[in-house]
Amino acid sequence: MPVQKHAPKHKTTAGPAEEPISESKILPPPTRADRMPDPEKLLLDAENAPAIADRLNIFPFDWRVETPRLMEIYENSRDPGWSPSRLPWDTLDPEQFTLDQRYAIAYWWALLSVFDASGPAVFARAMIHAYEVHEEDAIRKCFFSVTRDEMNHEEVCGRAINKLTPNGPLGYEPQTILGKLARNNVEWLYHNGARYWRGYKHAVEHYPMPILFSSFLFGEVASSTLFHSMYESTEIPVFKEAFRNIGRDEGRHLSFCLALLKEILPRLSEQDKMVITKQFRAGFVFLSGILYEPPAEFWHLPDTFLPAQRLLEEKAREAGFGILTLEKRRENWRTAVVRLKTVVEPYGIKFPALPEIDVDGESVAFDADKIVPIF
Ligand SMILES: [Fe+2]
Ligand SMILES: [Fe+2]
Repeated sequence: MPVQKHAPKHKTTAGPAEEPISESKILPPPTRADRMPDPEKLLLDAENAPAIADRLNIFPFDWRVETPRLMEIYENSRDPGWSPSRLPWDTLDPEQFTLDQRYAIAYWWALLSVFDASGPAVFARAMIHAYEVHEEDAIRKCFFSVTRDEMNHEEVCGRAINKLTPNGPLGYEPQTILGKLARNNVEWLYHNGARYWRGYKHAVEHYPMPILFSSFLFGEVASSTLFHSMYESTEIPVFKEAFRNIGRDEGRHLSFCLALLKEILPRLSEQDKMVITKQFRAGFVFLSGILYEPPAEFWHLPDTFLPAQRLLEEKAREAGFGILTLEKRRENWRTAVVRLKTVVEPYGIKFPALPEIDVDGESVAFDADKIVPIF
């Protein structure tokens, strides 16, 4: 510890400022009253506070609950039952993999991070918005709970990447050709993630809650499907355990969405229903980036991207990391989307055509600036 050359001397006696002050010099406090105020008179004199007129203000507060089922799910989510720091990371020895295998597995986590590590910021933003538009307490709380879960998922992305590629995904120098391809792909992924964030920030203020929740629903269908399949197919213990826990969280997020939508979908206008159809198409395009393959409708990617990703996926699979084959992914994604279709169609919401996975429906336009879905 550095030695302080001019340490202040300790005072042993009180200086002039600390001399006792005589009673007469003390001013009475401004609130001193000679008798108790008369409440009736006070009420007569009371002035109305200015009305809070600005749009999107978090004040005034109330704690009304309109969807008790949401509150129940929130109550059950208080303890998620796991923590990223308590996963068995010590069983993961990077030395057990070749350099390329490490790059390939870390690459998949970086790809996931576009969807899952954006979760905390995305849901925190939604939570603030819910406060600003004075949504019921249950909706604010459910966003808070999802934000907390997503923080855990983001942490898993970070721990996995840094364990296999310290300072990754971008702060290290890859030693192999495949590693360099992985880095180039990650840069492109993050370029697209930044475009998504730019659109999302505006979209979240633009749409009413039923539309936001329908979009979130698509994201949660995607994420629970993905983590379930990754849990089943990966052979690396720490990741298997992570997928099991993350998958359970995503299932809960799905329950939040379904519980709220059950209440609000029957009351939707035809116009809102059409917007949801469009949002489903947007959700499909965005989420296919990890559930299947990224459609060019949103994803700006160079020609080398997909071939490089296929090589990386093959390498990760060879190391026991369970990325499904393209065919299997397509089948999985289709099953999940068809399930979603059967949930929303009874409410008169038309499903968009998704020719990529052979699902019939309405042809709708795509607006890259208004993408809402998220894991
Ligand atoms: Fe997540
Ligand atoms: Fe989620």
